[in-house]
Amino acid sequence: MRKKIIAGNWKMNKTVADALALANGIKGELSGCGCCSCSCPEVVVCPPFTALKTVGDALAGSKVQLGCQNMSSEDDGAYTGEISHTMLRELGVQYVILGHSERREYYKETDFWVNKKVKKALEKNLRPIVCVGEKLADREAGNTEKVVEEQVRGSLAGITAEQFENVVVAYEPVWAIGTGKTATSEQAQEVHAFIRGIIRDMVGEKAAQGLRIQYGGSMKASNAKELLAQPDIDGGLIGGAALEVRSFIDIVKAAV
Ligand code: PGA
Repeated sequence: MRKKIIAGNWKMNKTVADALALANGIKGELSGCGCCSCSCPEVVVCPPFTALKTVGDALAGSKVQLGCQNMSSEDDGAYTGEISHTMLRELGVQYVILGHSERREYYKETDFWVNKKVKKALEKNLRPIVCVGEKLADREAGNTEKVVEEQVRGSLAGITAEQFENVVVAYEPVWAIGTGKTATSEQAQEVHAFIRGIIRDMVGEKAAQGLRIQYGGSMKASNAKELLAQPDIDGGLIGGAALEVRSFIDIVKAAV
């Protein structure tokens, strides 16, 4: 059984004070559950860099884990504006979202760079959440599988079966992100199963079965249960609905 994982991607939202309030709200809602081996999902929040320290301190010792939204592929040095794995680990970061479609689209991140970052993260004991997904034009042209396969193989090239234990993949159809349009549970399941098949081909059955694949793209409380009931959907990467305690917690509850 794969443990479900619900992650909130706060994107470029929340001042430090607002981030702290949101983190404390989420932590408070989840503190009632004293379990650790039950069917509760793993919960991760990914605030902007500026709020990582404050949110990390607030969440220390709680069930909520700390993630971030990007990372440099380099160790240190003259890379203006970049943030390294050492700096992130120092703040208690455990997960790092890599290759989000907004980074691919607006900052021209290619599979080559995503792959470099994934390798660096794994080498430095950070768990990458690796995003893939087709654009609307790809889907309409019947190219969903082609595009997703290229991203999966390119972003995850050279990752060993053993390293895959620390990888999460997020399937996020670009046309569903922030648009209110969700992929139907059938559409999402189809691509999730397809991705698992590619991983099987890359590193074998065991690693493929162990890999958690999140769905992302307008996931909310009202559609989460059905999406999360699909056999190959192992969690969610949540944007808009992760910005308020209630809507995020309702999704976490749908994953139980
Ligand atoms: P959304 O974003 O939930 O607002 O669609 C998801 C994401 O981009 O990770």
